[in-house]
Amino acid sequence: MSTAEKQIPTIRSTKLFKYGFGLVNNPLKAISDIIDNYGDIASLKISKIGSIIFLNHPDYVKHVLKDNQDNYSRRKAVKQPSFSALQDLLGNGIFMSDGEDWEQQHKMLRNLFSPISIASTLPIIEEELLLVTKRWQTQITTSSIIDVEQEMHLLMLRIMLRTHVCSNLVFPYHDILDTLKSFMNASNSKNIFLAQLKAFILKPFGVKYHYRKPQQSLEWMMAFVDKLIEDLLHAKYVPNGLFAIMLTDYNNGIVSKQDIKDQLLNFLFAGFDTTSTGITFTLYNLAAYQPIQQLVKDEIAVTKSQPFYTLEKVIKETLRLYPPVWSYAREAIADDIIDGFYIPAKTLVLISSYALHRHKDFWQNADAFNIDNFEKDNFKGKNFVYIPFGQGKRMCIGRALADYQMMAILPHLLRTFHFTTVNEKKPIINPNIIIKATKPIKLRVSLAS
Ligand code: HEM
Repeated sequence: MSTAEKQIPTIRSTKLFKYGFGLVNNPLKAISDIIDNYGDIASLKISKIGSIIFLNHPDYVKHVLKDNQDNYSRRKAVKQPSFSALQDLLGNGIFMSDGEDWEQQHKMLRNLFSPISIASTLPIIEEELLLVTKRWQTQITTSSIIDVEQEMHLLMLRIMLRTHVCSNLVFPYHDILDTLKSFMNASNSKNIFLAQLKAFILKPFGVKYHYRKPQQSLEWMMAFVDKLIEDLLHAKYVPNGLFAIMLTDYNNGIVSKQDIKDQLLNFLFAGFDTTSTGITFTLYNLAAYQPIQQLVKDEIAVTKSQPFYTLEKVIKETLRLYPPVWSYAREAIADDIIDGFYIPAKTLVLISSYALHRHKDFWQNADAFNIDNFEKDNFKGKNFVYIPFGQGKRMCIGRALADYQMMAILPHLLRTFHFTTVNEKKPIINPNIIIKATKPIKLRVSLAS
């Protein structure tokens, strides 16, 4: 380890209220303000949580997510008491594991993301797309306003459950969506900070405030998954994808019922809301930039199959401006030094891909939608300034599947429909655990001519 010769700029105590409150109210803006005022590394001390160090330079990101990744634990960061609702949901699945346990889970699951496995999911994607297309076609007269966000959310959940549990079971999709939503809400930064603030305010009065978990949702979800697993073990249906490999491992004594449950819940947490958000914002951008939508339509009209270079750039630019996973939290295991700055063990390190993707030193006119950012020469050297799927070994295991799904779904929708925005206003971002707009994204949809 080199020596620590530099002092991390620390947010002054007079500014604590401003930034502490800002992180509650609008974390994206607060983090951007911290970076603008303090630079690419800054430290904030909050009682109860301890120190948070914000990093916003590609070299620091590379250090934490790749070069010295074993020293930075996601599991420990998410194991903070205030994230307990999330821990209850995710158990010891891949997202929450570390070390050898993670290696084993990763080895088992990566077979699901081989090119052959991914391509085998196409028939289900096509069946589900057909359902959406038919529904929209009957709904649309000349043009209709459609809640694209909700539609894509439902579509991706259906695809996920049919490809990874069973292809011909009827699931209570809307109940699952509502339950997951209440989890995401209970675990977003605003509610967690508010709970901590309440605890802090009530303490002098001798009142112990306990963060309340979404207990009912948790119970419903656990009962639902338990029943699915019992039915699986009693051969009541033919399993697919994740459930098929887990059943084999269960029969060979390699995994337990609890492992199957944890893994399904990890997939439900990480594997469909992210992709549906990517698709939704891509459709929004295509609706907002009509000439680009036309370019993509021309491209997909000429050839029926990939690669669709323009569409690819649109998706990448969308994930730059609206990265579904907008923050990476890690806890330092041992003391470390990054570029001469001392990082004590147990510090919470936070990287915001949203801020990094709009860093003015690396992106020209950073807030503007510009697909030329992903021309080969313009993108050169930006691997650690553009991290929508993370970096290092804990990078998204499902990224190839996500790319495949987006590239299967978007051309189909664009061949059948035309998208325009409902008004001129840009969506206001709400940084829940997955990035969302404050109001659901609705678009005007008409039949393609
Ligand atoms: C556009 C879509 C997606 C985006 C933007 C995305 C983003 C990410 C990111 C940023 C991480 C790393 C988080 C961190 O380092 O703290 C991650 C991890 C993960 N993602 Fe994705 N993801 C997407 C789709 C999917 C899909 C389709 C699946 C599976 C079906 C999936 C499953 C996972 C899992 C299991 C992890 C944890 C991996 C590990 O810890 O080894 N994701 N994802």
